[in-house]
Amino acid sequence: MTIRRMKASDIGAIQAMAKDRILGSSTLETTLSPLLASAANPEVWVLEENSVILAYLILRLEGTEEEIDEIAVSKNEDRKGYGSRLMNAILRKAEETGVRKMFLEVRRSNAPAIAFYESFGFQCYRTRLHYYSDGEDALCYEKELIQ
Ligand SMILES: CC(C)(COP(=O)(O)OP(=O)(O)OC[C@H]1O[C@@H](n2cnc3c(N)ncnc32)[C@H](O)[C@@H]1OP(=O)(O)O)[C@@H](O)C(=O)NCCC(=O)NCCS
Repeated sequence: MTIRRMKASDIGAIQAMAKDRILGSSTLETTLSPLLASAANPEVWVLEENSVILAYLILRLEGTEEEIDEIAVSKNEDRKGYGSRLMNAILRKAEETGVRKMFLEVRRSNAPAIAFYESFGFQCYRTRLHYYSDGEDALCYEKELIQ
């Protein structure tokens, strides 16, 4: 199993996962190609096993803080630990590079994702009413990283 930055050949698999798994995913509206360069922000990370992309995560860097824009695993691959492996790798990297805080937003109705984030110690600090284009509220989560 490998966790690495996205390559051009991963774009199709990432967009298929986004379409299957994330309502209103930003990866479907924009092209991912500009995010290939090593200095690109946001960064797109993938988890690959036997040449198959099983999960991706989009990470936005903002100084000493980072935001997780999206994370998804392939359909039928839930609850096998792939999301956790990717999240652990990103949290470890963030700590190593001096990031102090990680943020994310999640739909109020997305119980699996909320349980997933809370299992990593993310804490809800506010609700953004009608945040999504379909009117759903967002829950804003944060996690302090150990320095
Ligand atoms: C959220 C998501 C990335 C989790 O990935 P995953 O690989 O299934 O998660 P893991 O197997 O690593 O689970 C880790 C822990 O998270 C929690 N968890 C994950 N899915 C859960 C569910 N459906 N119900 C309750 N808890 C859940 C559990 O505590 C779990 O540990 P356990 O299996 O030992 O009980 C995955 O469900 C997904 O892709 N969802 C669709 C996309 C999405 O909604 N993304 C978030 C918004 S951008």
